[in-house]
Amino acid sequence: MADDKIVLTGIKPTGTPHIGNYIGALKPLVEMSKNHKTFMFIADLHALNTMHDPKEIKQYTYEMAASLIAMGLNLDNAVLFRQSDINEIYQLSNFLMNVTPKGLMNRAHSYKAMVEKNTESGADVDAGVNMGLYTYPVLMAADILLYNSDIVPVGKDQKQHVEFARDIAGYFNNIYGETFKLPEPVIGEESGTIPGLDGRKMSKSYDNTIPLFAPSNELKKKIMRIITDSKTPEESKNPDESTIFQMYKHFANEKEIAEFRKMFLDGGMGYGTAKTILFEKIDSVLTPERTEYERLMANKNEIDAILNTGAERARIVAAKTISKVKKKMLG
Ligand code: ADP
Ligand code: TRP
Repeated sequence: MADDKIVLTGIKPTGTPHIGNYIGALKPLVEMSKNHKTFMFIADLHALNTMHDPKEIKQYTYEMAASLIAMGLNLDNAVLFRQSDINEIYQLSNFLMNVTPKGLMNRAHSYKAMVEKNTESGADVDAGVNMGLYTYPVLMAADILLYNSDIVPVGKDQKQHVEFARDIAGYFNNIYGETFKLPEPVIGEESGTIPGLDGRKMSKSYDNTIPLFAPSNELKKKIMRIITDSKTPEESKNPDESTIFQMYKHFANEKEIAEFRKMFLDGGMGYGTAKTILFEKIDSVLTPERTEYERLMANKNEIDAILNTGAERARIVAAKTISKVKKKMLG
């Protein structure tokens, strides 16, 4: 990634961060902030189409921000802010509505999935679809275009949204002349899907998560609940099919990983012992970050101060874009 490129990404505050989020999303972002200027925001406005409890949104916003800060996000390079602190975002979103074909929204994966589900069950095609869901891609295009982003690192499931932002930028430029850069999605290196307690993808929707900064005793309890097959301690076990090993890989160094793999293959290690080894590893890696996370969560004014500073920095760019767009559209 070239250093002069503007990188932007958003994270939705829809739940307590878990170990899957840590490996798949938060760690790569913290890593990236070491060498790249990045706009990074908590996408609380994007949560509104599914979450209607302000207390929850606020709590998860703090948890997400505190996690990133505790993990050592470089706050000089990363402009960390709350999406809803930038009024210009809804302004741009509304402006963009006027150049966005309705048909583009009909093709959005998440909307299409709802329509298919409704069709199968014989309900009205748009049952349960609010305009927040339907226009979600326009709001996301506004996020991306407001800050002149070049590069948008996202998970695979968000690639279409970034492509839509490109399309919408193109429609605007065609009508009003060169205004927006065309952003590129960058799909993070496959860190693989982290399995949850029941072996399926770790996800809050399956209620099988290990909260990232759960206190040690809770972390231990959760790890001990990981479902395994019924092999005896003596039997050789396949590490590549084991949730325990799949998690361990992301916390240990190469030598430790090779040793643990051998212990699985050799036999002689029961799953209880394997879980204890996994717990001790994760706990030792996460303890310093957890301590800082707990300190921040007990001092939310510090998180607010960081988010407010980020919003001030973001607003400078946002205001410039809005005045340019207004001039182009309204003269
Ligand atoms: P959830 O599945 O719990 O609802 P989200 O869909 O909100 O999680 O995911 C937020 C980010 O965390 C995404 O970038 C996603 O790719 C990443 N992520 C979530 N679960 C996992 C997992 N089990 N393994 C790897 N990455 C994950
Ligand atoms: N829609 C993204 C998600 O569900 C979050 C998001 C909102 C985002 N705005 C963004 C990601 C802009 C990248 C760029 O994960």
